[in-house]
Amino acid sequence: MKIDFANLQHQYQLYKKEIDANIQAVLNKSNYIMGEEVHELERQLAKFTGAKYAITCSSGTDALLLAMMAMDIQSGDEIITTPFTFIATAETIALMHAKPVFVDIEPDTFNIDATKIEAAITSKTKAIMPVSLYGQPADMDAIQSVADKHNLKVIVDGAQSFGSTYKGKTDSNLGDISTTSFFPAKPLGCYGDGGAVFTNNDEYAEKIKMMRVHGQNKRYHYKYIGMGGRLDTIQAAVLLAKLKHYKKEIEGRQWVAKEYTKGLKGHVVTPRVLGGCTSVWAQYTIYIGNRDKLQEGLKLAGVPVAVHYPMPLHLQECFEGLNREGERLLKSEVASERVLSLPMNPFLTDAEVGFVVNEVISLTKVLSVVER
Ligand SMILES: Cc1ncc(COP(=O)(O)O)c(C=O)c1O
Repeated sequence: MKIDFANLQHQYQLYKKEIDANIQAVLNKSNYIMGEEVHELERQLAKFTGAKYAITCSSGTDALLLAMMAMDIQSGDEIITTPFTFIATAETIALMHAKPVFVDIEPDTFNIDATKIEAAITSKTKAIMPVSLYGQPADMDAIQSVADKHNLKVIVDGAQSFGSTYKGKTDSNLGDISTTSFFPAKPLGCYGDGGAVFTNNDEYAEKIKMMRVHGQNKRYHYKYIGMGGRLDTIQAAVLLAKLKHYKKEIEGRQWVAKEYTKGLKGHVVTPRVLGGCTSVWAQYTIYIGNRDKLQEGLKLAGVPVAVHYPMPLHLQECFEGLNREGERLLKSEVASERVLSLPMNPFLTDAEVGFVVNEVISLTKVLSVVER
């Protein structure tokens, strides 16, 4: 059996007519930059998420930069975040000449441990940046209450979690500003780079809209130092076609996750979703000892798997010297040795999910890898 990890080709074939027609419409109009599709997509994203403003941009990385620029993050400011995430989360903090301060994760949701945040706050702390890893929001009530107590801003890095919910609100409607990525392999992806910033704050929204066009407030007049951070019209056209099917795709991902958990429980540690939350399952990630052997075995059996992420950020060379003296972030370090993401997309069939489950179970038996 040949299983595809994200199956973008199948998705394109399914929606080909709509996607091709939308792209052709842009080509016919040649409105490649800030065309009407971009504005229509922003209206639809705001409606989908419930956020007052949805502002599209060039990538999930640039979305984080735009969020911090809107908040006027300055050199030497500190932003508390998780080390168990994609590099862009902390890289953008460093690009602002601010300092990422890493706080360890909860071992079962893989998200930042809100109970450890307060101890990391200093007089320089300006914001907390939780990541909704693998598709589910962090413990946002607890994070927001620490932020409120210490007068800190909250930026949600929702690159992996567009459409997930926390106590009835979408992930894009949490914190002061929330961001997402439309990288092709993300739950809602375009056909290149893309992203969006969400906020309910009028001032931030106005600033972000200027910042993504070089800080421009009037043609060739620049109020701020900004960036070239717009979403291409063609990417907006692709997303408009795909957004129509997205709710159904989320349901498909949730079905796959449910089936995986049903089949694998008792054999490996399956992912936990917080009560009152939904995940969009950017990844379905198991936690297991002897991970590398299982990974090898699954690849040989034709099951594509991936490790998100093999090294936490506080151990990366580029962040050398950033760690607080003598501190280990053990939960993140152990997770980086034990996590394994299984194929996840809304098109996996009953037979494919069954095949993956059986392969994982039989390999864990052979390798005796069951361990927390
Ligand atoms: C948690 C997280 N933050 C930020 C990003 C950056 O998004 P992009 O690749 O669209 O720049 C990613 C992308 O993988 C991500 O996973």
